[in-house]
Order: sequence, then structure tokens, then C-alpha cells
Amino acid sequence: MWDQIREHYKSVRGRSMAGLFDVSKRPERFSVTFGDLLFDFSKTNLDTEGLWLLFQLVEQYKLTEKRARMFRGDPINETEGRAVLHTALRNLDGGPVHVDGEDVMPNVRETLARMGDFAESVRDGSFKGAGGQITDVVNIGIGGSDLGPAMATLALSPYHDGPRCHFVSNVDPAHICDTLRGLDPTTTLVIVASKTFTTIETMTNAATARAWVGEAVNEPSAQFVALSSAAEKTADFGIPPERVFGFEDWVGGRYSLWGPIGLSLMIAIGREAFHAFLRGAQSMDNHFRAADARDSMPVLLALVGIWHHQICGYPTRAVLPYDQRLSRLPAYLQQLEMESNGKSVVMDGSPLGCAAGPIVWGEPGTNGQHAFYQLIHQGKAVVPCEFMVAARGHDPDLAHQHNLLIANCLAQSEALMKGRSRKEALDLVRGKGVAEDDEARQASHRVFPGNRPSTTLIYPKLTPDVLGQIIALYEHRVFVEGVLLGINSFDQWGVELGKELATALGPIVDGSKDAPSQDTSTGVLVNYVHRHGVR
Ligand code: F6P
Repeated sequence: MWDQIREHYKSVRGRSMAGLFDVSKRPERFSVTFGDLLFDFSKTNLDTEGLWLLFQLVEQYKLTEKRARMFRGDPINETEGRAVLHTALRNLDGGPVHVDGEDVMPNVRETLARMGDFAESVRDGSFKGAGGQITDVVNIGIGGSDLGPAMATLALSPYHDGPRCHFVSNVDPAHICDTLRGLDPTTTLVIVASKTFTTIETMTNAATARAWVGEAVNEPSAQFVALSSAAEKTADFGIPPERVFGFEDWVGGRYSLWGPIGLSLMIAIGREAFHAFLRGAQSMDNHFRAADARDSMPVLLALVGIWHHQICGYPTRAVLPYDQRLSRLPAYLQQLEMESNGKSVVMDGSPLGCAAGPIVWGEPGTNGQHAFYQLIHQGKAVVPCEFMVAARGHDPDLAHQHNLLIANCLAQSEALMKGRSRKEALDLVRGKGVAEDDEARQASHRVFPGNRPSTTLIYPKLTPDVLGQIIALYEHRVFVEGVLLGINSFDQWGVELGKELATALGPIVDGSKDAPSQDTSTGVLVNYVHRHGVR
């Protein structure tokens, strides 16, 4: 089927996307709604036949069966022998979910209730630091233990009525120093978020934070919380069980926002709003489980992704939220998509026959317009753009400003598709004081090739419920793309080698061990550090 889709692409490559709108009802036929969300993919080169062929791929790779295996807790993460059940964390009104014959839901509910009680006690001041009510929360974690809560906490800032939340991830001391500067250690709660509780960056920052609290507080661990699946290690760190919120190995790091890793978000917005966030995600899960592929928003989002990356060969995709509060979303999606699907072998270990995992990048609009959109419009590389925008913002008094934001978003997708022809560019320069013999040259700089694909996800307002839907939508997209590629989207072996080498290089950089050979690129760099750094 892959070959047939590629053949189809060859036959339609380069045709006018705008011309596709001659077919009646294209905007309706090449868009999908779920609840209040609208995903429009009509401004792409996909046509009915292309979409039909992609649906054959969905059948061929048995998506329905694999989806059922994920939701029912089969160990689909085969290289780690684990189930993949982040959906259980938001299965608020659902039935039992079994892993190895045991229903995991009672534990999920109990942990969620404990999180809620704790979050509320921090918010209402009944949980106190040495100096009284908690004013600031510092979440220390990295990757999935940082990006999810950091992204969502910013996204939902209009709902904040709890203490201020800060996020420290980088082992670069600048990050923790800059964050702690100005905070009061006696009223700061430190959350150490690490599934494994071994991640070097997190454990190093946690030790630094403990020393910082310890300078002002007799019993620093009383202001520490752990979010982890490694109960023994959290005990070794000195955090008592009542302040440890655990989760199981069937929750992958980059899928962990919905459970204990979301505690900082819950403290910021409160239990009720956090539950609304989970409910939004659960509604997307229900849609994904029940809808036919043709009406499924996650499936269609995935098929557009496959079309652009694996079929058209566009190496990247830009995520462009016209929503300043989603400014951490591109980084979040980088981990979700690139750590999940940046693979080169299929499940049985044989090489993957095509590219996997586009490079995901982006920035909020309108900022990006004044930075990299030049390349998107006139550069040689085609970058499929994924626009996102809310129909309304949170500030009714500034509705005119929000509408300007929307106009910019919609204008960009239109400009990408329509472009500007040479004739239009010539008309533009004529009569503008340009010498007649220079008109052609000047016009060529003002030509936009157009015919560049984009999609738009539009939602009513960025509420907890809507954010839950959007994040679950992207999670399921990653799953569908992984299924169609035949890869394991739930392991991340590619991050291991760098970690091992960093561990080996640590004592060499600090001078406690000799470099094995100075006659290498790394040796030269280490020498430089020894000359200029601090040992
Ligand atoms: O290095 C990759 C990774 O394992 C991610 O998958 C994960 O989200 C991150 O590190 C943090 O891991 P942990 O929560 O165990 O500290």
C-alpha cells in the first residue's frame, strides 16, 4: 500500500492545491470536528483518492486491533515488556483496566484523590512550610517530568489561583540559581519529579534545592514531595511515603502529565480544574476508541502527518499555536513526537523502510511571523505548518486584539496556499517608483510560490477541558503514526548512549580521572575546559 500511495503522490505532485477547491464541499470533506474542536486539512494536496489509500494503510496495519490492545493493557511496549496505559490515568468515569489480570483503576483513583487532597492543602494553607503558607512551588524534573506540567501550567495560567509554580529542568546550574533567586526557602515547596528517581539532572538539582532549603529550615525534607515509581529511592532521599505520589511503569515519561507528574499543575489550578483537564482528555480517548477512522480526528491528524513526511518527503513540521500561552507546546510535542517516533527499526528489529518522525519545531504566532516565516513562505524547503488558534481569548475587553490574532493565523494559511504570482508581483512594483528596467528583478523578490500545505486546529477557548482534548489528540496521533510505521512508539533507547558517555566523562571533566586519549576531538575539548574551567 505504501507504494501505491507514493505512486499516487507522483501523479499529483505540484498540482495547484487551490484548484482542489473546485470540487464541491472540500472544506467540509477535508475537515473533521470533535466536540467543539475543528481540524481543517483542506489546504493540503490530499484528495479523495489519496485519503482513501491512506485509509487502506490504516486497515493493513490493523489499527483497530492495535488500539484495542493499547486500551486494554496489553504489553504493546514490547522492547520494555510494558503496557501503555496513560489513558487509565484519565479514565475517570470508565470501567476497570487490567494489567496482568489486576484492575489498576482503584490505585489510579486513590492516587488521584491523594494528589487532590495534598494540592488543596497546599492551596488553602493547611500544609505549611517552616515559614507558613506555601507561596511558591518548584518542580524539579526533566523531559516528560518537566515539559508536560510546564507546558500545561503556562497554558492554563488564567485558571491559576494557587501558589506560583516554577520549573527547573536543566543541569546547568544557571537554571536552578535563576529560579531560586528571590524565593523564600521557608515557604517554597519542592517537587522532585522523576519516574526513575535516577535521572542525573533531576537528582543533582534536587540535591542543590535540598541544600538551599536546608540553609533556612531545620528539616528540609518536610518541604519536599516526590513523584516517582521508585519508592525505595524516594525513601533513600528522605521523603516520607505520605508525600510520595507513585505511578506504574505502564505510564511512559512523556505521557505522564495526567497522573502524579501533573501535581504542580493541580496545585496551580486546583483539583476541580485538573479533573476537567482529565475529562477533556478522556473525551478524546472515547472518541478515538469509538469513531470510524474516517471520522477520527487523531487518525486524520496522523494521516496528514504521514502524507507530508513519509509520502511527500517534507522533513519537518512546524507547530504554530496562535496562542501565547501555548508557547511551550512545540517543545512538549518535540518530546512527544520525536522521542516516540524517531526510530529506525520496526518491531521485529528489521530496518524501517522509510523516514520516521519528522523534526517538530515551532513558536507561537504572531512572533514567528517576524522571524522564520520568511523561509516558510519563500525558502526552498517546504514546511507543512500546523496552525492552532482559539475562537476567543480570556480577556473580553481585548476581544479586538484576539480577533487580530485570529486574522493573522488565518491569513498565514491562506498566503501559504495562494502565494503571489509573478504577474501580481509585477503589478505591485509598477508605479512604485521602480525603474522600468528593474521591475522584473524587483518583482522576482516579491513572488511567493504558494501551494504550501498547512492545517488549522481551531478551538473555542483554551480551557482545562480543551487543553486535555488537544494533548490527548496529539498523543493518539503519535500512536497512529507509530502503528502505520510498525515501530514501537513507547521506548526511547536513543537517549541512553549519551547518558552513558556523560557519566563516563564526568570524572574526566572534573579532573579526577585522566582522559583516555587527548588525541581526539573530545580530548581537545576536555583540555580546553581544563585550561579555562574550574576543577
Ligand atoms: O532521557 C529520556 C527520559 O527517560 C524521558 O523519556 C523522560 O521523560 C525523562 O528522561 C525523565 O525521566 P525521569 O522521569 O525518570 O527522570
